Amino acid sequence: MKAPQQSLADDPSAIAHPNIALIKYWGKRPGSGNLPAVGSLSITLDTLRTRTHVLLDGALKADVLLYGGAPASPKDAARAQRFLADVRAMAGAPKGPYCRIETDNNFPTGAGLASSASGFAALSLAASRAYGLSLSPEALSALARSGSGSAARSIFGGFVQMARGVADDGSDAIATPLLEPAAWPLQVVVAITDTKAKAIGSTEGMERTRATSPYWQGWVESQEADLKEAAAAVHARDFAALADVAEHSCSKMHALALSARPPILYWLPSTVGALQAVGKLRKDGVPVFATMDAGPQVKAVCLPEAAQVVAQSLRAVPGVLEVLTVGLGEGVRQSAGKGSSS
Ligand code: PMV
Repeated sequence: MKAPQQSLADDPSAIAHPNIALIKYWGKRPGSGNLPAVGSLSITLDTLRTRTHVLLDGALKADVLLYGGAPASPKDAARAQRFLADVRAMAGAPKGPYCRIETDNNFPTGAGLASSASGFAALSLAASRAYGLSLSPEALSALARSGSGSAARSIFGGFVQMARGVADDGSDAIATPLLEPAAWPLQVVVAITDTKAKAIGSTEGMERTRATSPYWQGWVESQEADLKEAAAAVHARDFAALADVAEHSCSKMHALALSARPPILYWLPSTVGALQAVGKLRKDGVPVFATMDAGPQVKAVCLPEAAQVVAQSLRAVPGVLEVLTVGLGEGVRQSAGKGSSS
């Protein structure tokens, strides 16, 4: 294929949303490209979004990454450059041209709100189009996974299942849609307890856990049963059953991280307060459950009629800085381009 001189797509911009795992991914199997040690199941959110624009520029000597107009950290830039090198290799243009990536999030980055999921999902679509590739959703999911494991799931909307896969090349470690967002429009009330980027990134946390936790094998072996139970609950729209297995998966993941050496603790005092507030609501019969990722934010998943009382209760927890209520959203898509307000 002839190397492109400029962007081949009319408008290589994409929008993607973060997703929240209800059955958690934690740990990688050997090999490159973030091959997961376990499958996972998630919901893709609306409202919170990453928008990314990729423009090829023959004058550049390396890819440039801008976050909200400002240069990204050297670590983030290097991660994007490695990813872009793979996209160029797929497009048959390994020598360039390089590109300028302009990306922005309308929510805090790197604080456990799944910004790497929406970030790499949006970058997969925008960059593959910019280099003239037209990838299937499955191929986009595999590409996004190579940037960040959870990003594979943000290719799709609503309820999404991610396969562990067995192939060394990762071709079967991809996400598939389980249920459209409108088919069971759950709400997620996010209690933000800290807006700083987390101290231990998920890749480092996962690797330390795999290498040192005495509970690792138990985690891997119990995952399939949790996935089956959660998928059945989603298909049956059985909120109580989903709540039970999702809280179990989240507690197991954090217990696993705590059992690493040295231990990994993502929680703040306000995190515990928020978890207890959700636990009390649940005990009182409110259809809600809590889940958490590699950061101190608490995500309370609930039926729509409970969203207001859940938000009120989380706002009253000391140390909770902000409460956002979001619904379930769509998968990655082309955006109206730079300057659009979507
Ligand atoms: O995709 P990563 O490397 O950011 O890992 C995500 C890990 C968790 O958010 C903690 C769990 C998950 O399944 O999303």
